Order: sequence, then structure tokens, then C-alpha cells
Amino acid sequence: MRTRTPDERLEGKRRAAPSTLVIFGANGDLTRRKLLPALYRLAAERRLPAGFAVLGNSRTPLSDEQFRERMREAVARYLEDADFDARLWEEFSRALFYLPGDLRDASLYERLAARLEEIDRTCRTAGNVLFYLSTAPGLYPEVVTRLASSGLHTGPGWRRIVIEKPFGRDLADARELSRLLYRAFPEEAIFRIDHYLGKETVQNILAFRFANGIFEPLWNRRYIDHVQITAAESIGVEGRGAFYQEVGALRDMIQNHLLQVMATVAMEPPAAFEPEAVRDERAKLLRSIRILKEHEVDSCAVAGQYASARIGGEDVPGFRQEPGVDPESQTETYAALALLVENWRWAGVPFYLRTGKRLPRRVTDIAIQFHAAPHALFGGVGIAEPMRPNLLVLRIQPEEGISLRFLAKLPGSGMKLRPVSMDFNYGASFGLRAPTAYQTLLLDAMAGDPTLYTRQDMVEACWAVVQPILEAWARRRFDFPNYAAGTWGPPEAEALLARRGHRWRSP
Ligand code: BG6
Repeated sequence: MRTRTPDERLEGKRRAAPSTLVIFGANGDLTRRKLLPALYRLAAERRLPAGFAVLGNSRTPLSDEQFRERMREAVARYLEDADFDARLWEEFSRALFYLPGDLRDASLYERLAARLEEIDRTCRTAGNVLFYLSTAPGLYPEVVTRLASSGLHTGPGWRRIVIEKPFGRDLADARELSRLLYRAFPEEAIFRIDHYLGKETVQNILAFRFANGIFEPLWNRRYIDHVQITAAESIGVEGRGAFYQEVGALRDMIQNHLLQVMATVAMEPPAAFEPEAVRDERAKLLRSIRILKEHEVDSCAVAGQYASARIGGEDVPGFRQEPGVDPESQTETYAALALLVENWRWAGVPFYLRTGKRLPRRVTDIAIQFHAAPHALFGGVGIAEPMRPNLLVLRIQPEEGISLRFLAKLPGSGMKLRPVSMDFNYGASFGLRAPTAYQTLLLDAMAGDPTLYTRQDMVEACWAVVQPILEAWARRRFDFPNYAAGTWGPPEAEALLARRGHRWRSP
């Protein structure tokens, strides 16, 4: 792979090559909510390559026109803060095509090959194809095998494949999927997506740590007491009950998003800002996370499931009452872990991770709590104990920014102290709308830049961390539900930190 100049990488205008994006699962939620709105935004910003087309596939019989109409509705609905421009849509949607068919049917792949040739001619996509697997994960092995047996994995231009999580159901399954992938594609053509790595504020952690001289010297066990990583969602399972029931919070959020965020916070500085150098450091950190022994799981991991509640005058169903969910379901909608990293920098520093559905609000952040000052010169006048240490909060969403809490003297006579905060807010400082994670990641895949994608060794390291917990929980019968919708999770999660002398902060 050619090394990018710092300007090419840093200016963010990666050279996306002409290509056709084939979306398997084009009638699904992800395509509607994330992929098409991201592509439309890229079109609006004139960042798509000159030759570009989308070919959607799913079993639903639709014409190109009907597919475009569905996508128009989706984009108009999920664009969030941007305006929908009908004229731009007209232009953009001319490059949207659709091919109905069952992915288990061999003849579909022949039709796909023919359609790709035709699109390549009319849209001048240079024979490049980016396959995007956004189907039910159970279909991945079949699709990958059939792409290879029908010869679609090679072609006149490049062939790449983007795979949505989950990468397997556990460590063994992830290895099997990777074996199939490697039979068809080389590593540099495989893009395993973890959209948290594409979030601007997660990328900013690298800038914050490695472009500034003052934080990195403090970034270790000597100064940091513990780290809390929270990804809370106020929504429930949103019509995905049947899918979610098979997955649960540990597989859905921790095995991938939260461990990747943790790796970004805790990794060593890479030697260069190049894909493999950055990924090597992330991978090394993930491999240094201490793997729990069977008998430690109960004291280091907590599972929860939400019960129905009345929130803001509305009745919210419990997880077991959601459509498609077993009324006796043992699936966790909340998970909290206490992890340790076994290396010189972090020995003994707990990393607490928590995530859940139906928590009080949507917030993702990382709180770095420093040790308290070694000597209480001011006697702690008027300051509650947990308020004292310095706290650095990296806010990923929704109000992206960074805050540093420290103590200041309250004006007036005497030496009364009060915590105050120094704040950086993304929106206010840059006045720009940040690209969505999918915008960044789709463009990177078209440019062949895997920096923000995960690698097989990272995926396996993440599975290795959660595997003992998955196994222990599979053997247990939980007394679910154990937290009311709209609260911060089960009481055991508080006890998890209390045992270590800490307390969850309220984000
Ligand atoms: C997805 C999970 O990967 O991430 C969802 O499958 C979750 O359950 C989503 O809601 C959260 O993403 P974001 O970007 O909204 O924080």
C-alpha cells in the first residue's frame, strides 16, 4: 500500500476511486438510516468520485425506480440536521440501481456480474466494486463463498468487501468467517466496519493525545486513577427485538464499539499516522487486556435487562414485552465490565465500560479520573470527596467536546473551593457540521484506506476479552428484569465500582 502524505490523510480528502457500491441487504434498516443518507451527504459535498453507482440487492422485488423512491423517502427522513434538496436528489439518484434476488440462489450472482458490467459502462466506474455486507449475519458465509465461486471476487478493477458487525457470534465463529473471507479476498481488500472508529470525536482522541504535548506525559497509572467509558442509549430495541434477543449488549456494543474506544484511549503512540502503524497499536492494546478467569466473571461483569416503566407520562414496555422477544428472555440489554490492562502504562488502573438500552439519556463519553492531589492543603473545605480529583471528559455524543474539571477558589474571604470546568465544544469552535461516521468510512473504503477499520487480529482480541463472560452468562439464569426503563441500570452495576472504591459518574 502506498503511504499517504500527511496532507492527503490529514486534510480528509481521501482519494475515493470510481466504483460501484453493491449493497447486500439494501432493504434493511442500516441502508435506510445510515448508508444512503451518508452517500447523499457526500454527493451534496461533491466528495463522491466522478464515476460512482450504487447497486442495491435484497429479496424484495423492486424496479430501479421503486428502489430510488424508497431511498428518497429514507434520505429525506434520516438526514437529521441537513436539508433535503430535490434537485440534487434527481442527479444523485440516477446512479442508484437495484437487483432483486435471493443470496442463496447461484443464478443471482450471474445476473449480478452482468449488471455490474452494464453499470460500469454507463457510469464509468473503472471496473472497481465495493461489496457491502449488510444482511443478516447468518448469510455472510454463504455470500462470501458464492462471490468467490462465481468469480466476482476478482475483476478488471479492484474488488473490496465491507462487513458489518457482528463478525461472528464468538471467537470460534469469527475465526471461521475469517477463514472463508481469506479464501476469497486478501486482507487489504477486507474492511470490517466498526462505525465508532469513524466518529469524528473518537478520531479526535488521537489528535488530543498525540498532537499536544501536555496530556500524554500524564496519561498513565502514575496520574490516572481510573477510566469510565459510557455508551448509554435512551431508545429501546426499536423493532429489532428478534435480532437483538440473539445478540445482547455485550456482543452488540462492548465486543466492538466500546473495546475499540478503550483501545483508542489507552494505546501507545504509533510511530506514524499510517494505517498499519495505528492499527498495530490498537491491536497491541486489545491483546493486553486481562482475560477474566471463570471465577472472576461475577465480580467483574454485570448484566441487566430493562423492565417496563412510565416515563414522562408514557408507558414504556419492558424488553420482554417488545415484539419478537421471548417473554422469558435471558438476553442482557445492559452490560458493565471492570477491565484491567496488563502493561507498564496501565497496570492496576481499572477501565470501567458500561452500555445499555433505555437508560435516562443518549450519551457516549469517556471520563478519565486523575488521582487526587497528594496532600490536602486546603483541608477539603466544602468539597464532597468524589468531586475533588481532576476529571477529563471526552464527550463523543451528543454534545461533542472535551471538559477538564479542576478546583478553583470561591470568591470571597476564606479558602473555599469549588469544582469548575474548562470546556471545548466542537460545534462552537469550528462552526462546521462534522461528517457522520458512515460518510468517513465509506469514503475511506473507496480510497482503500483501512486506518479506521478493524483487523482480524483486533476482532479476535475483542472476542477473547468477552468470551469468558459470554460463556459464564450462558450458564446462568438471571433474575431479569433488574432495572426499570429510564434508570441508570441495575444496582449491581453500582456495587461493581463500589467494591473498588469508585462510583459511576452521572454523565
Ligand atoms: C449499533 C448497535 O452498532 O450501534 C445498535 O447495533 C446501537 O444497537 C448503535 O443502537 C449505536 O450507534 P450510535 O452511533 O447511535 O451510538
